[in-house]
Amino acid sequence: MMSSALLALHPLAAIVWAGGVSFAHIGPTMSSVLLALHTLAAIVWVGGMFFAHMALRLAVVPMAPKDRLELWGRVFPRFFPWVWLAVAVLLGSGWALVLTVHGGMAGAGLHIHLMNGLGTLMMALFVLLFFGPYARLRRALAKGDLPRAAAAQGWIRRIVLVNLSLGLFVSALAAGGRYWG
Ligand code: HEM
Repeated sequence: MMSSALLALHPLAAIVWAGGVSFAHIGPTMSSVLLALHTLAAIVWVGGMFFAHMALRLAVVPMAPKDRLELWGRVFPRFFPWVWLAVAVLLGSGWALVLTVHGGMAGAGLHIHLMNGLGTLMMALFVLLFFGPYARLRRALAKGDLPRAAAAQGWIRRIVLVNLSLGLFVSALAAGGRYWG
C-alpha cells in the first residue's frame, strides 16, 4: 500500500524536480510573504536553539541534576511545538518559492539545493531527537530515573549542537547564495 503510493508519487516528484510543472506566477507580494514566513520560521527554530545551547545550557550548570533535568523537561514541551510549526512553514514556503519563483529545482541555484538538502537533514535529526532521546527523557523523568534522564538529555544536547551548526550555516548560505553569480 505504502510502496504503491510512493511509486505513484515518484514520477510526479521527478517532474516537479525537473521543473516540468508550470505553476502560476504568484506575483511579488505573495513571494515576499512566503519569503518573510520562511525567514521567520528559520529565526524561531535556529534562534531558539542558539538561546538553548549558548545561554540556558550554561546558566543551569550550577543547579542540582534533578532540578536541571526537570527544568529541561518543562522547557522542551514549550519549544518543540514551535519547532514542528517552523518545520512545516519552512517546507511549505520553501517548496512554494521553488515551484513558483524558480520554476522547479532545475531552475534553482546551488544555494537552494544545499538549503534543501541540509534543511531536510536538520528536520530528520529533529524527528529523531523528538521520538528518540526526548521520549526517553520524558519517560525517565516520569519514573524519577535521573541517570537515564541525564543520558537522554546528553543526546538531545549533541543533536541540538549539530542542528544549530547546520542551521547557522544554512541561514548564512541561504541569505548570501543569490549573489554567488
Ligand atoms: C532548516 C531549514 C531551512 C532554513 C534554516 C532556511 C533558511 C532560509 C533563509 C535564512 C533564507 C534567506 C531569506 C532571505 O533573506 O532572502 C532562505 C531562502 C530560501 N529558502 Fe530556505 N531554509 C530552509 C529550508 C528550505 C527548504 C527545505 C527549501 C525548499 C527547497 C527552501 C527554499 C528556499 C528558497 C527558494 C529561498 C529563496 C532563495 C532565493 O531566492 O535566493 N529552504 N531560507
